[in-house]
Amino acid sequence: MSSQNPITRVTVPQIRARKGRDPIVCLTCYHAHTARLLDNHVDLMLVGDSLGMVMHGMETTLGVTLELMILHAQAVMRGSKKALVVVDMPFGSYEESPETAFRNAARAMKETGCTAVKLEGGSRTAETIRYLSLRGVPVMAHIGLTPQMVQVMGGFRTQGRDPAEWPALEEDARAVAAAGAFSVVLEGMAEPLAAKITRDIPIPTIGIGASPDCDGQILVMEDMLGLNPSPPRFVREYAHLGPDIEAAVTAYAADVRSRRFPGKENVYAMKTRNPAQ
Ligand code: KIV
Repeated sequence: MSSQNPITRVTVPQIRARKGRDPIVCLTCYHAHTARLLDNHVDLMLVGDSLGMVMHGMETTLGVTLELMILHAQAVMRGSKKALVVVDMPFGSYEESPETAFRNAARAMKETGCTAVKLEGGSRTAETIRYLSLRGVPVMAHIGLTPQMVQVMGGFRTQGRDPAEWPALEEDARAVAAAGAFSVVLEGMAEPLAAKITRDIPIPTIGIGASPDCDGQILVMEDMLGLNPSPPRFVREYAHLGPDIEAAVTAYAADVRSRRFPGKENVYAMKTRNPAQ
């Protein structure tokens, strides 16, 4: 084996060591161009199964397949060099048994080169997290609002706003940490509970609609860029690409209709001939 370290990206131990230190910057990413743009600025990119809704117009994430995740993850890996890339395990690819989860997670790692996978679920997923972690698959857990349970929950419902819900959610956090997850996403969770879980467990928490006290934050990139016409309340928009894209397309359509596009600079002239020939 070569003595040179083959790993050039941010590593799982580096993320793990950021617990309680400077915040971990994460965004979702689904394609190569944006991966290139994000790569110098984020620690971790998540190829989230939200891509089913964001990229493919699905109503929930339940229809996303492993093949679709792999295709997008390959693009993100080609576009990036530094950030740690995590691939979401889609609904149906890990719940049945730890063995099935391992087979599918190993396929995602082999076919994309990603570093880690993410699984939804707390106590109910702990056995699988342990099985994967012990076999070379780093796992990011995901508790609180878990979109793959949308049909069970009857919608996307914020978790932990009623104190009676706290013990089970706290147990979820402890269970995934004890099972070996290297970090855990806290999604759609009452702020004081997310802050408490962050204080209480030894692995980094990554918040989305959670708390500024989390060890890191993640947003869906298209939401923070202003491409979602009705973003959730926890999103802060850092750009307004929706209106910008519409303005650009309006200008293009007007130019095409009036024959102002293409201009001279956009067409190919003939090769100039030597008059002596
Ligand atoms: O699928 C996704 O984008 C996610 C994030 C919202 C954490 O799971």
